[in-house]
Amino acid sequence: MTRVLVTGGAGFIGSNFVHYLLEKYPDYRIVVVDKLTYAGNLKNLENALQNPRLQFVRLDICDPAVTEAAQGCDLAVHFAAETHVDRSIEDAAAFTRTNVEGTWRIAEACRANRLRRFLQVSTDEVYGSLGPAGKFTETSPLNPSSPYAATKAAADLMVLSLVRTHGFPAIVTRCSNNYGPYQFPEKFIPLIIAQALDNQPLPLYGDGLNVRDWIHVSDHCRALDLILHYGRDAEIYNIGGDCERRNIDVARAILRSMGKPESLIQFVSDRPCHDRRYALDSSKLANELGWRPLENFEAGLTATLRWYQQHSAWLDQTRSGEYRDYFERNYLRRAATLPAH
Ligand code: NAD
Ligand code: TYD
Repeated sequence: MTRVLVTGGAGFIGSNFVHYLLEKYPDYRIVVVDKLTYAGNLKNLENALQNPRLQFVRLDICDPAVTEAAQGCDLAVHFAAETHVDRSIEDAAAFTRTNVEGTWRIAEACRANRLRRFLQVSTDEVYGSLGPAGKFTETSPLNPSSPYAATKAAADLMVLSLVRTHGFPAIVTRCSNNYGPYQFPEKFIPLIIAQALDNQPLPLYGDGLNVRDWIHVSDHCRALDLILHYGRDAEIYNIGGDCERRNIDVARAILRSMGKPESLIQFVSDRPCHDRRYALDSSKLANELGWRPLENFEAGLTATLRWYQQHSAWLDQTRSGEYRDYFERNYLRRAATLPAH
């Protein structure tokens, strides 16, 4: 029986990955470690929490007790992080702590427990910004712009240092911008959807012409699954959507599918040092493991829009912070215990 440690499993990508693993591997057990910050939401795991193969542990990855939580696990996928660029510009303290110190702590916990594999889930933002042409490969220099990206780059280097120093069996993955269900509505796509649903202005930074390489979260989960099982230790793999879109075109597409006017778009002052363009070359992953993104962006965006429309209570509660009360009422006692081995 394989036991997988998933950190940050109550967040956007982590919860999608937990659902994916539970469905794909009926014999796997999963231990989720999550601090439940403002971005962690147990409602993202609602049905999964009833599954006896899932154990939820509310724990900060900076807490030395993570060594105990990792006991008996075979594989680890490390999602837990502070993730919003704008928040990191305001105050990077939590980013430094969770993304750097926390990654070191969880990686050492996995090393102490001799896990067979550790995936460091990272981002294309560590490479910085591109001009109008070209794509980042795994050998592109690290050139992060925001405190968020800098702490992710530091975390990647920390994990790779443990690989070199101790032969720690780890892999770093760097993915482009994800979209899909359960994404916290401070990020661009769910924010734009939520604002449009309420007929509120859609804030576009600067000229709205910055480009992101969008990937559906299900394609990211499939790539992580392949790399977790068949990737090579000590390697870095880019995971890109091969789907570059300008922010303004994404906003227009959302408004179009909702039948709402473009006049809702409002240009606001730009993010400081706003990366102009991201694009990833994923040919290493395609050549070695046969992966390619399957979801078409326009279809995926429409399905995502429908998901948020059908989950208006999730959206309202997430935006109002009501899910916190939900947590206190329903899961606090259950979540506070470490897994028994
Ligand atoms: P998210 O913000 O939705 O979720 C983060 C999760 O980590 C939350 O559940 C939160 O409670 C938990 N967490 C935060 N600090 C913690 C701590 N100290 N201890 C334990 N848990 C803690 O993030 P996401 O968008 O799902 O991103 C997950 C990972 O994927 C991150 O490492 C991020 O850098 C990476 N990534 C994200 C994207 C994207 O587009 N969202 C793209 C590439 C890579
Ligand atoms: P975001 O979802 O924050 O992801 P990242 O900055 O990590 O790529 O933002 C995606 C793009 O959308 C980015 O170019 C910034 C832009 N943006 C806006 O124009 N308005 C907004 O309100 C937000 C949150 C983002």
